[in-house]
Amino acid sequence: MNTSTTQKIDIQKAVTSRIGQVDFNNLTFGSTFSDHMFECDYKDGEWQNPAIKPYGPLTISPGAKVFHYGQAVFEGMKAYKDDNGKIWLFRPEQNFLRINKSSVRMAMPEFPRDIFFEALTTLVKLDQAWIKPGPGNSLYIRPFVMGTQVGVGASPSTEYKFMILTSPAQAYYTGDVKVEIAEHYSRSANGGVGAAKAAGNYGAQFFPTNLAREKGFQQVIWTDASKHEFLEEAGTMNVFFRVNDTLLTAPISDRILDGVTRKSVIALAKRDNITVEERPVSVSEIVEAAKNGSLKEIFGAGTAAVISQVSAFSYHDKNYDIEKQENGFAARFKKELTDIQHNRGEDPFGWRYEVL
Ligand code: COI
Repeated sequence: MNTSTTQKIDIQKAVTSRIGQVDFNNLTFGSTFSDHMFECDYKDGEWQNPAIKPYGPLTISPGAKVFHYGQAVFEGMKAYKDDNGKIWLFRPEQNFLRINKSSVRMAMPEFPRDIFFEALTTLVKLDQAWIKPGPGNSLYIRPFVMGTQVGVGASPSTEYKFMILTSPAQAYYTGDVKVEIAEHYSRSANGGVGAAKAAGNYGAQFFPTNLAREKGFQQVIWTDASKHEFLEEAGTMNVFFRVNDTLLTAPISDRILDGVTRKSVIALAKRDNITVEERPVSVSEIVEAAKNGSLKEIFGAGTAAVISQVSAFSYHDKNYDIEKQENGFAARFKKELTDIQHNRGEDPFGWRYEVL
């Protein structure tokens, strides 16, 4: 992998900022973009022309491979402003490693570490006014890569575009999250691309999630593709179950995204002497735990939503309510994580990365 380069990022600043047009108290997740974006092209076997420019439309041929074969991967990260105006990222190395892992799975070239970090920090510094301090506020960062070679031959693109967009964000979910356990559709299968943050993994969820929404659920808990016996992920998040005081979550495999929030929750739980079992979690044991009262919590963990409590689930058309725990594990991990992210608490694992 080309991890080092001497290339300098060309910076073209926006002449005027759009920030004055933004209502930061009423943001819809991921729909407002800040003033600048990063772009870098892969051609003739190397990444070239890294540039930061004003956010705006691209001109890409309709024959580009991404439109025909979905050769695209992405990441989700956040920048936070603390109460003294300092800016932090959270475990960015994990996202760098994962985007390249995803790219390799989709037959795409890896991106150099030094341009990734230089682009990320320069972009965040340039648009620092778009990051609001305070709990719940952040700048969501969306690195992504797509195949841009023109041609509908079904083979990997020889040309790519790597980009980073940033978007001011508040909460991802508002209100209770009710989920339906998947009994027919699947998110991923053995040997598939479930562990990659491939764009198509998310697009493929939209149809079954719409069906669940029509029945009043916000998300689907995905189960194993072969028998729908084991609980794997919740919507766009990893999923945790608290049975009595034990935390259960599916083990990482080629079907499951190795989530940064997931691994951070596990580290915090283990530090706090909470028993964590990373093992296949069966639908039947969770239904049984819901019936006998030992199921205390279900929560999703992901960058966008941080920690999202599930208030009810449905299986075989039967609803199971989960009593809200004000001081449960979900609330506790959310506070511990966001305190670290916003520099409001100790950072025992060295997860914070100072930008400015
Ligand atoms: C993230 O948590 O970063 C995600 O991947 C969710 C995204 C699909 C909005």
